[in-house]
Amino acid sequence: MSSAAPKKKLYIKTYGCQMNVYDSQRMADVMRPLGYEVANDYEGADMVVLNTCHIREKAAEKVYSELGRIRAQKDSNHDMLIAVAGCVGQAEGEEIFRRAPYVDIVVGPQSYQSLPDMVGKVRRDRGHAINLEFEDDKFDQLPGTHQTVENGAAFVSIQEGCDKFCTFCVVPYTRGAEYSRPVADIYRECMALAAKGALEITLLGQNVNAYHGVDIDGNVWDLGQLINHIATIPTLKRIRYSTSHPRDMHDSLYGAHANQSKLMPFLGLPVQSGADNVLKAMNRKHTRKDYFAVVDRLRAGNPDMQFGSDFIIGFPGETEADFDDTMDLLIKVGFIQGYSFKYSPRPGTPGADMEDQVPDDVKSRRLALFQAQINKQQEAFNQSCIGKTMEILFDRPGKYEGQLVGRSPYMQSVYITGADKSLLGSIATVTIRDAHPNSLEAQLV
Ligand code: 5AD
Ligand code: SF4
Repeated sequence: MSSAAPKKKLYIKTYGCQMNVYDSQRMADVMRPLGYEVANDYEGADMVVLNTCHIREKAAEKVYSELGRIRAQKDSNHDMLIAVAGCVGQAEGEEIFRRAPYVDIVVGPQSYQSLPDMVGKVRRDRGHAINLEFEDDKFDQLPGTHQTVENGAAFVSIQEGCDKFCTFCVVPYTRGAEYSRPVADIYRECMALAAKGALEITLLGQNVNAYHGVDIDGNVWDLGQLINHIATIPTLKRIRYSTSHPRDMHDSLYGAHANQSKLMPFLGLPVQSGADNVLKAMNRKHTRKDYFAVVDRLRAGNPDMQFGSDFIIGFPGETEADFDDTMDLLIKVGFIQGYSFKYSPRPGTPGADMEDQVPDDVKSRRLALFQAQINKQQEAFNQSCIGKTMEILFDRPGKYEGQLVGRSPYMQSVYITGADKSLLGSIATVTIRDAHPNSLEAQLV
């Protein structure tokens, strides 16, 4: 590409999980050779991509109303291309062209490596382009990552899709079957990111501990092995993974939690419910007892382990006693963080057709009780950190002048004041001075 070629502006709006953030960066990578540069807003954009998420209620409706707003921009710039990517693209498909005919491209999360071809086709034919294929070789077709590492933290997608079919969840339908990237590809990407200053890498997947990628000899590796391999990169200091499933914990992963000091002592491990009959109806494939056993074994390997989780409140058939079981599990595990959601029926999933749907006012009441308790636990853990010394990766400037914010090993937000900006993107030792519900105040040692 000649340096004189005028650059085009590409605005990608990302919804949902970290996986989508990663995918958005990769979409920018595939469009870069066509002269597209990432822009920060719609203003003057030559192409807009909505990288959508389908996990929340009314997700598709929200995308349609956002498209309505973008349409106004297109009215003043007829050449602007509009693409809908991600899980709503996958789930809605052609319906998007029917409801929003000014959309040019619909592309699913497994096929965005074909975006440049689709853009070419649309520019040539002035028609629509759609690709919802599940292609296993997506990663082979992507160019090397251009992910910049400005703040010391980076993400690498190692696994996609899910074969579990929890009865509330759309992921197996939108992201398809489990697929794991080969070991060598992942290692190369981690090396490249470390060379650009990544001190922490989070390995991403919808079911990341179901990872089963092949090495160059064709041997299948699990996540524990992969983590130990990546940990050999000398400048890399911290490894995390997200999102995991209790059923897919395995010996080498327990081993890594016990012995691999670069693997951080905080794990977000979704449980969804603390009641066995609800877990069964959810098709979670684990019991309450199984979950306690996982937590106990991880704590036996590393007594410093802390846990976060995802919870669904008010799944069909959840009784008051079932909810009490969830509260009891919340307290007994001693979670320090939790995402909790009212169950929302997703069309096409078995849960949506179940009888005994829980009335909304009951869900709201239980959710409020649940969130009060999790907030209490989070704050109590924050309080218990006062006076402790911790290593913090400072990854963003704070709201106020001279403030820097970072992450503790347990994913708490930790801020310092009056520190030099050059600390951004590095790990520093601090002492915790004060605790708030959602953050810690610290001082450099
Ligand atoms: N209703 C409520 N919460 C849901 N989640 C997934 N599907 C639903 C649903 N239908 C939650 C789960 C999951 C998180 C990403 O979103 O807790 O772990
Ligand atoms: Fe959805 Fe369950 Fe798969 Fe997680 S494990 S992505 S909740 S189906």
